[in-house]
Amino acid sequence: MRSHARVGYNQGRYRITAKGSTMTNTPYVFPETLPGQHASALVARDNQVMVPMGRVYPLVVDHAQGCEVWDVDGNRLLDATAGIAVLAAGHCHPRLIRVAQQQLTRFTHMAGTDFYNEPMIRAAEKLAALMPQGPAWRVFFTNSGTEAIEASIKLARYATGRQNIIAFYSAFHGRSYGSLSLTASKPRQRRGFFPLLPGTFHAFYANPQRPPLKSDPAHVTETCLNFIEQTLFQTTCPPDSVAAIVIEPIQGEGGYVVPAPGFLAGLRQICDQHGILLIADEVQSGVGRTGKMWGVEHEGVVPDIIASAKGLGGGLPLGAMIARSEVAMQWQPGSHGNTYGGNGLTCAVAHELLTMVEEELMANAAQVGAHLMARLQEVAAHVPQISVVRGRGLMIGAEFVDPASGNPNGKLADAVMEMCFRKGLLVLTCGASTIRFCPPLTLSMAEADEVAERFAVAVRAVL
Ligand SMILES: Cc1ncc(COP(=O)(O)O)c(C=O)c1O
Repeated sequence: MRSHARVGYNQGRYRITAKGSTMTNTPYVFPETLPGQHASALVARDNQVMVPMGRVYPLVVDHAQGCEVWDVDGNRLLDATAGIAVLAAGHCHPRLIRVAQQQLTRFTHMAGTDFYNEPMIRAAEKLAALMPQGPAWRVFFTNSGTEAIEASIKLARYATGRQNIIAFYSAFHGRSYGSLSLTASKPRQRRGFFPLLPGTFHAFYANPQRPPLKSDPAHVTETCLNFIEQTLFQTTCPPDSVAAIVIEPIQGEGGYVVPAPGFLAGLRQICDQHGILLIADEVQSGVGRTGKMWGVEHEGVVPDIIASAKGLGGGLPLGAMIARSEVAMQWQPGSHGNTYGGNGLTCAVAHELLTMVEEELMANAAQVGAHLMARLQEVAAHVPQISVVRGRGLMIGAEFVDPASGNPNGKLADAVMEMCFRKGLLVLTCGASTIRFCPPLTLSMAEADEVAERFAVAVRAVL
């Protein structure tokens, strides 16, 4: 049996001890007000029954509304995670609840790949209408982001007759075998799972703050595009063997990194030149989160396939692969399918959610996101350990570094994240040392101020 450092010690990263709770491997000491008694008891029960997972602090939710969460001990916390960028309309939005209740009394599931149903058709029509203008689009519904990526990989191979896929370092595309083979974010996500899908290659993402191999930041776009054309294509991966390039328009799990200008457009050009499909993984950046419907729209780039999930279901599990019609229509009936995709309940809610994104949430993400970004940048201006606050809309990251070397300081980011929790603010980290802010797209200006204030208090408390 595989040896595991945590076996017999803890079922996750978080443990409850006789003295209370503590993050493993962290040198920082915190006040003991959270977790409360009920949360501690539930964490202990969870540790007895769940497989090891990556819980980062002991939030045990009791109920939630809008951007607020109450834990099982009655503590109110402000939610700048939205359950990892999922709850676009916030917790328990009355419009979504109304639609869900109505649909629950009509039907929930009727196998969308075998039978027809109107909620699925309406959600697909709405989604197709919200795609970048120009081509006609076709939709395949999935249950998650990783499944949308699997469908995208399969369609790209099928439609081009080619095998290879190029993704990027620091990318996150999911945990099933195809998507994991593209994921290149953290070694622990791959360790123990090899061999992965053959025919996957990685190139450098045009990260303007951390250009690859310490190259010139002024030329990061050219450096990264040249690597594909002059190194990958000329050595290991001939362009006519490549089915697709898969890119996050903003890297999510990799650190909320906005690529340098021109990078996405450059990839589009490479794809056009060599008959390669461009797949945008909009699982985290899509559905209004960045202030536009899709992250690619900030760069005026139209991909061939978009993978969506997270925000799309308004809190219910739903993903989608949306492809240009001429690509998608190459599949034969039965080429691909699933059981739950096109579920009546999730699709009815998704239709309402998409309507809300179109009507108000996207604009709110742009406006309140700009405000939150400015407030966080004010905080950062007094903290040399925060090297940059970056992002688009309500997808914002604050990167923590060692000020002397400029190197990422992941322990500090972890400590600030946990202190935020103790100050009543829910955030998550991403990348090597970034705290991400991905609240519901319903966030108000006043709530944005409260997020920035609690963050500032937490940063001060840790430093
Ligand atoms: C960009 C991106 N793609 C794919 C995924 C995988 O989605 P899921 O966890 O729903 O499988 C994620 C999840 O965080 C993501 O951020």
